[in-house]
Amino acid sequence: MFRTLYWEDGAVVMLDQRKLPEVETYNNYKSYEEVAQAITALVVRGAPAIGVAAAMGVALGLNNLEEGADVDAEFSKICDRIERARPTAVNLFWAVERMRRLFEVNKGKSLAEIKKIFVSEAVRMHDEDIEACKALGRFGADLMPDEGVVLTHCNAGALATAGYGTALGVIRAAVEAGKKIHVYSDETRPFNQGARLTTWELQKDGIDVTHICDSMAGYFMKKGTIKAVVVGADRIAANGDTANKIGTYSVAVLAKENNIPFYVAAPLSTVDFDCPDGSHIPIEERSGDECAYICGARLTPEGIPSAYPAFDVTPARYIAAIITDRGIAEPAFTKNLAGLQ
Ligand code: MRU
Repeated sequence: MFRTLYWEDGAVVMLDQRKLPEVETYNNYKSYEEVAQAITALVVRGAPAIGVAAAMGVALGLNNLEEGADVDAEFSKICDRIERARPTAVNLFWAVERMRRLFEVNKGKSLAEIKKIFVSEAVRMHDEDIEACKALGRFGADLMPDEGVVLTHCNAGALATAGYGTALGVIRAAVEAGKKIHVYSDETRPFNQGARLTTWELQKDGIDVTHICDSMAGYFMKKGTIKAVVVGADRIAANGDTANKIGTYSVAVLAKENNIPFYVAAPLSTVDFDCPDGSHIPIEERSGDECAYICGARLTPEGIPSAYPAFDVTPARYIAAIITDRGIAEPAFTKNLAGLQ
């Protein structure tokens, strides 16, 4: 198996997801600035994995401080920098906030003690994320069909978390429970997380998977091939509106039109209870150049602009259930998500 990211010898080690599936290579990051840049550049991606990387980045920043440093000022600088890495996945802010609270309760301790406490906390957050994915997988497995095709969009798997995955965690748990699931994986242009990453990790697990272009989902739904859809989330508002990879909204509308259940799977740390609805979720705008090129080859004539909103928001009314590590929330989400806290 592979590891998405881990802490080793005073560095954060990450599988470089830009290079998969051709090359499986791990990079060592030795400063919080490098970790922030790696998050922005999509070396590590997926909301829970970004959260763990953020926590490790903060721990790394503190771990590199020398005796006599202004720890308070440096800590604020580190947290602020990490928070600027990407705007949509709330797990990043959730993780930094958890580190800020830890800092408050440990004020007055020696720098050596603080370093130990923060490294252990980051490693704990990594391990807790795997446990959360396994828990939500167990809850969600019951919602999966006993056999048939389940569609997913983007990569919400082991690569998008510390391990096991959210949407793919549900599928893994269903397969472990004996269900005969065949996954259809949307390509997920422009970064192709579905084509490159979801297929790669499911193949490693021996789970049947077929790659389809994003434009084919409606065809397979109408034909009756797809029995359920399960996706991850970058931020879930208190009312259940869900930001996830661009294209998710179209899949949800198509699922409703075809009477196919559309499920969102995410740890409770992805729910932003301070965000009343999807209109308040910040949507990352990435460079259009990332759309204009595919595997290094330019698709469009020079001079044609490309737009790249990286996420969209699926209104809660399209979502049959939100599967979390604390249980399943069905509509009405405002009440039922709050009840899981
Ligand atoms: O831009 P990315 O690859 O970070 O976007 C990832 C997604 O949209 C995932 O579906 C989401 O973060 C859930 S990951 C368990």
